[in-house]
Amino acid sequence: MPLDKLNNRIIYFDNAATSWPKPAGMMAAMINYNEMIGGSPGRSGHQRSLDAGRIILETREALAELFGCDDSLRIAFTKNATEALNIALSGILNPGDHVITSSMEHNSVMRPLRYLESQGVQLSVVSCSGDGRLNPADVLAAIQPQTRMLVVTHASNVTGTIHPIAELGEIARNHGILFCVDAAQTAGALPIQVDEMAIDLLAFSGHKSLFGPQGTGGLYVRKGTENQLRPLMMGGTGSRSEFEGQPDFMPDKYESGTPNTIGLAGLGAGVRFVLAEGVEAIRSKEEGLTARFLGGLAALPGVTVYGPPDAANRTAVVSFNVAGVSPSEAALELDERFGILCRPGLQCAPAAHRTIGTFSQGTIRFGFGYFNKDEEISLALAAIQSLAGGDTEK
Ligand code: ALA
Repeated sequence: MPLDKLNNRIIYFDNAATSWPKPAGMMAAMINYNEMIGGSPGRSGHQRSLDAGRIILETREALAELFGCDDSLRIAFTKNATEALNIALSGILNPGDHVITSSMEHNSVMRPLRYLESQGVQLSVVSCSGDGRLNPADVLAAIQPQTRMLVVTHASNVTGTIHPIAELGEIARNHGILFCVDAAQTAGALPIQVDEMAIDLLAFSGHKSLFGPQGTGGLYVRKGTENQLRPLMMGGTGSRSEFEGQPDFMPDKYESGTPNTIGLAGLGAGVRFVLAEGVEAIRSKEEGLTARFLGGLAALPGVTVYGPPDAANRTAVVSFNVAGVSPSEAALELDERFGILCRPGLQCAPAAHRTIGTFSQGTIRFGFGYFNKDEEISLALAAIQSLAGGDTEK
C-alpha cells in the first residue's frame, strides 16, 4: 500500500497531549447531562441541581476507586493538572521552605517552583540520568532540615521514563516531607495507589489517560493536609453560605465557583471505562505498542531514540530524532504526507530536554494510546524510514 496520506486516514499519536478518540460513553454522558439535567450542582436544591450533584459525586467516587482512596471527598476538581499543581505548590510552600524536584519536570511544576523560588522558597533540582531516570539516593542526599516537600512527575511527558514513586514516597514519609506527584501522564495509564505510594498530593489530568474532556483534572489531598494547603481561589461553594470566610473542608475549600459539570460528567464516563477495562490491561496494551515501536526504531539507521531502552520502564511515550531533519519539519511531513499526528519540540519541558541532551531543538514525540493498533505502528515505522531516507516510496 502506498504510504503517502495513508488513504486520507489519520494516525493519532498525540495521546500524551490529550487522548483521542474517547470512549463512546464520554460524549454520551455529556449529552445526557446537557439534555436531561442541566442544573448547577450543590446550589439550588431542586431536582436538576441534585441530579447534577449526583453526577459529580459519581465521578469523584470512580476516581477514588481508581486511586485506592477510601474517601472520595479527598479529591478536589480543577480545570487541569496544572491548576492542581499550582494549588499544591503555592498553597503549601512559604519563603524559607525547601522543596526538592527532579530535572525531568514539565513547566507545570517548574514554572510555579521558579516563581516560588523568586519569593524566597529554596529549590533543589535533582539531576536525572541521560535517559531521564531519578536515583532515589540523590533525592535522599538533597534533603535538608527545612525541606517541606518533594514534588516529582510520575512519568516524563518527554521520554515516558517512570519515576520510582513508591520508593520516593517512602523516603518522603520517613523524613516527614510532603510528597506531591504529578500524574498528568499516568492517571489511568499506570496503577496509582495513594496509600501504598505514600502520596500526600496527587495532581491529575482528566483529558489524557482518564478519557475525559479537556478542562477537567483534580487534586487528591491526604487527610489533614488541607489544614496547611491554601486555596488558589475563593468564592461561592454552595456550602456554609452564611459565612463570608472560605470553607476549610474538602473538597469545598478548593472548589469555588460553578464547576464544569458537563466536563465532569464526561470524565466520570472516562474513568468508569478505565475501571471496566482495568489499568493492567490498558498498561499491557500500551506497553506492547511501545515495545513494538522501540524495536522497529532500533533497526532504522539515522534515528536516535531517547529515554529508557525498554518499554517496561516507560509509559507509551517515545521521543526520537531523525538525522538531518528538525523535529518540527519531521512532524509537519509526518502530518502532511502520512497523516501521522504527533508533538515535536520541547513539549513544555525544557528541563527534561536539557537532561537528555536535546535542548533547544527538542524531539519528535509519539504518544500512543489504548485505541492505537499494531498496524498503525507498522505504518509509522515505514513513514519514519522514509523520512530517514531509507525507502523510495516518495
Ligand atoms: N503536557 C502535555 C504534553 O506533553 C500537554 O503534550
